[in-house]
Amino acid sequence: MILVTGGAGYIGSHTLVELINQSESVVVIDNLQNSTELALEKVKEITGKDLTFYQGDIGDAQLLKQIFEKHPIKSVIHFAASKSVNESVSQPLAYYRNNISATVTLLECMAQFNIKNIIYSSSAAVYGDPVYTPMDEAHPIGPITPYGKTKYFGEQILADLAVSDSQWNIVMLRYFNPIGAHHSGLIGEDPLGEPRNLLPYLTQVAIGKRKVLSIFGQDYNTIDGTPVRDYIHVVDLAKGHVQALNLIQKQCGLKVLNLGTGKPTSVLELVSRFEAVTGQKLPYQMMPRREGDAECCYAAPDAALKEMSWKTELSLDNMLEDAWHWQSKNPNGYN
Ligand SMILES: NC(=O)c1ccc[n+]([C@@H]2O[C@H](COP(=O)([O-])OP(=O)(O)OC[C@H]3O[C@@H](n4cnc5c(N)ncnc54)[C@H](O)[C@@H]3O)[C@@H](O)[C@H]2O)c1
Repeated sequence: MILVTGGAGYIGSHTLVELINQSESVVVIDNLQNSTELALEKVKEITGKDLTFYQGDIGDAQLLKQIFEKHPIKSVIHFAASKSVNESVSQPLAYYRNNISATVTLLECMAQFNIKNIIYSSSAAVYGDPVYTPMDEAHPIGPITPYGKTKYFGEQILADLAVSDSQWNIVMLRYFNPIGAHHSGLIGEDPLGEPRNLLPYLTQVAIGKRKVLSIFGQDYNTIDGTPVRDYIHVVDLAKGHVQALNLIQKQCGLKVLNLGTGKPTSVLELVSRFEAVTGQKLPYQMMPRREGDAECCYAAPDAALKEMSWKTELSLDNMLEDAWHWQSKNPNGYN
């Protein structure tokens, strides 16, 4: 049985589907600070299976103990965190509390119950400004924002834990840019308020909820001057967690792996593929560069292939089709 923290969120809900499809039993803990229980109802609809949900905070040691006493949890997949880069700059303490202190509480409770298998959601944000591309796991570390630092400190805490006790199996996954949605159109990314990520903003422009897409920077040293990223289908990303669980079964110790496609895509390329696959015209405007945006950032995903036989299967067109399917079927997200 797997405990999934933050399972009602964007990546968590997609991962639940893949876990349940592999016949795993799951328990979810989520405080719903950035999600809704409706996502879990949709997961049940997609899979035709039930799941156990606790609405609560991973910083609540009493609740965690109740869960570990009641359910035979073998491994934890730890998604729960605050993830807004901008917000982390204005509210660093809230980010350190939620992403670091609460993670320490979770790890303490796990250790107490002798549960020593964990998959940790890290981020390409730990690398900071790219020194070279594609970025492998040996790329220098240098997170720029408090958010990126919380992800990196989380990695460090886990690495120290692995040194202290060799029974721990820890897979730290550094995600690149997850986009898209489940093919059913029943679950997807549903940001509260104004989207901070490109894709939900883009689909909200396409559906007429927002006027125009701003593209920040057209003078970068890239194929067409706009920034380049490594977009990965959220379902491929979710499947990476199933593979990481298999790796943990083999008593893998500590591993750190990138999850990306290894394919660079510029913002303008993304916009033009979106228009081509959906037939939607997308109004956009060019804006000056935005502070803190890297020019070009994409993964070397070879280690994940070698270590856990995982690679992406879905194309950029699949990502855009599925993101549009979700947005057009649910113009107001889960509401
Ligand atoms: N989406 C991305 O672009 C991206 C990229 C790299 C890494 N990540 C990491 O992946 C993880 C999942 O991201 P996501 O996009 O699904 O975000 P999300 O906000 O959709 O999901 C996170 C979930 O965790 C819950 N949560 C937050 N703090 C909690 C707490 N203290 N106790 C219980 N539940 C809590 C939220 O309510 C939400 O349901 C995060 O750790 C994030 O930092 C995301």
